[in-house]
Amino acid sequence: MFFLFLLASSTYLFLSATSTFASWQQGGFPATHSDRRDPGMQATLTGLQDAALQEILRRGAPILGTNDHCPTSSPTCDWMARFPDDTRLVHMNLPGTHDAATGSYSDAVRAGLLRYTGEIPPSRAYKCQERTLLQMLNDGIRVFDMRYAYNPGNDTIGFWHSRALLAPTTTLSDVLYGFYAWLDQHPTETVLMSFNHEGGTGTPRDEKIERMIFETFSKASSEDPNHFLKTKYWSQTRGELTMLGESRGKLVFLQRFLYEYLKPVPSDDRLVGIQLGPNRWTDNGQNIELVYNDATGATAYIQDYYGVTPADGTVTHNSLISTKFDVLTTHLERAINTHPDQLFINFASAAYIRNSAGEIVIDPKTYALGNEPNVPGINQRLLPWLRERKGRRLGIIMFDFYDAVPGLIEAAIGI
Ligand SMILES: *[C@@H]1O[C@H](CO)[C@@H](O)[C@H](O)[C@H]1NC(C)=O
Repeated sequence: MFFLFLLASSTYLFLSATSTFASWQQGGFPATHSDRRDPGMQATLTGLQDAALQEILRRGAPILGTNDHCPTSSPTCDWMARFPDDTRLVHMNLPGTHDAATGSYSDAVRAGLLRYTGEIPPSRAYKCQERTLLQMLNDGIRVFDMRYAYNPGNDTIGFWHSRALLAPTTTLSDVLYGFYAWLDQHPTETVLMSFNHEGGTGTPRDEKIERMIFETFSKASSEDPNHFLKTKYWSQTRGELTMLGESRGKLVFLQRFLYEYLKPVPSDDRLVGIQLGPNRWTDNGQNIELVYNDATGATAYIQDYYGVTPADGTVTHNSLISTKFDVLTTHLERAINTHPDQLFINFASAAYIRNSAGEIVIDPKTYALGNEPNVPGINQRLLPWLRERKGRRLGIIMFDFYDAVPGLIEAAIGI
């Protein structure tokens, strides 16, 4: 009897060790073995929790990607660890990604989803990233521009860029678990999550989707089924950006939508994060002054000039890229020289343009990376510009295709 128990328990331990190893090999998250008092029972519970998390992360993988091991030598995995707790978030330089969820999007994905989207332009019109969300976190990205709408079936929330559905079976909740699991491994870090209801998808916007969003992102209350997740992983403050120390290990909510259908409209004290709603976010603005807290006057200064008109009137890659680069660096200069205690958000990205024949003249990748060697993109032009201004406050910079220019994220952070 005793022998059998030993045999059974050592077999179990062996299996458990192999599956943990296997999950690392697949780029997953390792099991944690914290409780040693009752190893048999604890191993069973940990195994089940681990399996459940792996299942969620597998469903999230089309958007999340996988968590490649982050070497301790990497300067970006835990870069916020080197800043003191009393650093104000508005004083930090935070690299972000515009349309962050498009990293796995391709012509093949587009073709597979035409039955949901109908005929839409080629994937290069919508693709803004090459890396996936977990890779971005390890690369030092700390602000994510997420665009949600219903998945096919109008029952779960998924991710879109305009008419492009990005992954029909990945849900908002799957993706959030990926962030929670990453934060467990990187407790010094803070991540700002911007959520926006994506228009033009052809899916309904109704009370149900707003209720689901509210249940996910509202302030934790005692009877809330999501109480644990909200208090552990979401900053619970409203209308202000805190010190880094208060937000470590947590997500900070940037609310880029308004509740329009949910009745009653949630009162402000039920909400967390800061309100950057479309009523105050002027479309295509080069210097938006968005007051996100009427009581304190806290303001976000935003450059979101995505529909570019060339300054010299000629529609060439060089004139389009140069025009956007000037608008971007003008706003970066404002972040350096003005309103030192306010938030700055600066988009380095721009949207595709079609000519009257319907052909794509420029896409997000060409804006970001240009037509080397003759026409450098925004990212190549920005690298030396940032390096010359190392140590200055730049605020949030939202990139497309940042990974193609090595050192760009370190230069944006100033490390
Ligand atoms: C989802 O909403 C769209 C747009 O309103 C509608 O055409 C479609 O039939 C709905 N799908 C389901 C499964 O209800």
